[in-house]
Amino acid sequence: MTIVSPSLLASDFANLQSEVEMINSSNADWFHVDVMDGNFVPNISFGLPSVKAVAKHAQKPLDVHLMINNPDQYIKAFKDAGAAFLTVHYEACTHLHRTIQAIKAEGMKAGVALNPHTPVHLLEDIIQDLDLVLIMSVNPGFGGQKFITEAVEKTRKLKDLIVRKNANTLIEIDGGVNDETGKLLVDAGADALVAGSFVFKSSDPKKTIDTLKTL
Ligand code: DX5
Ligand code: ZN
Repeated sequence: MTIVSPSLLASDFANLQSEVEMINSSNADWFHVDVMDGNFVPNISFGLPSVKAVAKHAQKPLDVHLMINNPDQYIKAFKDAGAAFLTVHYEACTHLHRTIQAIKAEGMKAGVALNPHTPVHLLEDIIQDLDLVLIMSVNPGFGGQKFITEAVEKTRKLKDLIVRKNANTLIEIDGGVNDETGKLLVDAGADALVAGSFVFKSSDPKKTIDTLKTL
């Protein structure tokens, strides 16, 4: 079954606890938490206190997606805030290997996100160290954007790389995921789907989660 990680960015922030409890009682696997700094991406979402508040009620792992520059300086803080997966952007890390080791040293699973223009082959020499690769199928910064179809081919390429290197890395896709794009991605090798608008703006979010799980 596909791993489903609903993105809280599309939830009702004024009712965050009930949104978290809705996900707790659903068949979703993780909570996708989008952290933006208004610098790496042209938007600001929420920061450490909000992540902590979510962690207090969440009964599933927090899949934290850092869209920030200088992530190294916040690794321990996100561990303390309750992150299980910590994903940094390839484009924001000059010393990616060091960053990944630092995330693992804190006892978290380490992920790398690729912007739409960043090719998969750049991960050739680090793939075996990664627990997760997050392929962005929109430009990061906002929910509700249109899916960039090249992400499907990228998923295939990443799957090939993982198999060739005998790595144990999960493939997660983020941006514009719905039942149609999700199906293409799962067929191409995706293990996990992030979905914001498709889940939270639907009339029956739990049923929508089930649809994604069985793609
Ligand atoms: C975008 C975020 C996504 C976003 C996805 O920068 O990384 O996680 O919430 O939202 P949808 O699913 O609406 O495209
Ligand atoms: Zn995200």
